[in-house]
Amino acid sequence: MDHALATFGTDAAIAFSGAEDVALIEYAHLTGRPYRVFSLDTGRLNPETYRLFDKVEKHYGIRIEYTFPDARETMDLVREKGMFSFYEDGHQECCRVRKVRPLRRQLTGLKAWITGQRKDQSPGTRQAVPVIQVDPAFEGKDGGAGSLVKYNPLSNVTSAEVWNFLRVMGVPTNELHACGYISIGCEPCTRAVLPNQHEREGRWWWEEATGKECGLHSGNVVQSAAEQAKREAERDLWDTDAHVEALSREQLAALADGPRDKSTLVVLYAPWCPYSQAMEASYSELAERYAGSHVRVAKFQADIERDFSSEKFGLRTFPTIVILPAGQAGYIKYPSETRDADTLDMWVRTVAGYQ
Ligand code: ADX
Ligand code: SF4
Repeated sequence: MDHALATFGTDAAIAFSGAEDVALIEYAHLTGRPYRVFSLDTGRLNPETYRLFDKVEKHYGIRIEYTFPDARETMDLVREKGMFSFYEDGHQECCRVRKVRPLRRQLTGLKAWITGQRKDQSPGTRQAVPVIQVDPAFEGKDGGAGSLVKYNPLSNVTSAEVWNFLRVMGVPTNELHACGYISIGCEPCTRAVLPNQHEREGRWWWEEATGKECGLHSGNVVQSAAEQAKREAERDLWDTDAHVEALSREQLAALADGPRDKSTLVVLYAPWCPYSQAMEASYSELAERYAGSHVRVAKFQADIERDFSSEKFGLRTFPTIVILPAGQAGYIKYPSETRDADTLDMWVRTVAGYQ
């Protein structure tokens, strides 16, 4: 904690969920340095969690920076699918709207964030959480891959140690813990666990036990460094994304050479490349925005077609992003290494029009 605050000052902030990660705030307080705290208010938290936020603000004399989901996106989701769609088709969509996108917005104002993740929280996904890492999924203030540092100072601390610390220091805690809750998230997606049940079993209990991450820490969904390398090497990018169209060499060649009905944005990527991996979430978000619009969003695995990609699009590094505008020949290459959805969106609109 001291390292984070000494290095990044107010460009760092603690991500506080309203559970036992209140320990992070006590640690920050003990350093005597100024510190910032933010919470993602999904609109679906338990009343006990809101009460803890209030107690924490008063106890430490701080103001928590709350973030809220985008009103339009939330309305679209609940008007289309109802209030509890996550029980039917999984929690990813709702988490993306209520947590991940607000988090992404919050992180673009920071250079480092500090989380309460611990290895013992989730044997399936948090075994390899490092104490300090370059954030594998999000971008910070300066933009681009590698622009955000993620501190997980509790990584090697056990639940028992956190609780001893909270008790000894007289830190305010969430009343839900006294009702059998260990891990706490949103009200409809969290429940108390029985004695000797693992804490993660109280989260998204209707889903598969091993991969329970909501997207805040999606970089964790691995077992170990070796396992990570293996999985990343095997996994294709945007493989389950319905909005990102996979192009074959023939399809791309036809678009490159022939007449085009629509503008097509293409990412030429390599599944094992960390910079390609880092833009997976932002490109998915962009594709979702453009679904059904005048711009087709597509991907092309270029590491297995290097000669073709260099010849047609001057590919030298991964990922290379190009647009093939409707009604004209040739392509325009995306000139920046900032690959968040908003910046890409602005560029696409500039080169492909605002219809
Ligand atoms: S989650 O991804 O499954 O929801 P978890 O509840 O284990 O995460 O919390 C791990 C860490 O993620 C927390 O200590 C906190 O740093 C961050 N986090 C989780 N939820 C929130 C939230 N609503 N607001 C801010 N940070 C959060
Ligand atoms: Fe939605 Fe549940 Fe995710 Fe909260 S935890 S954002 S309610 S799916």
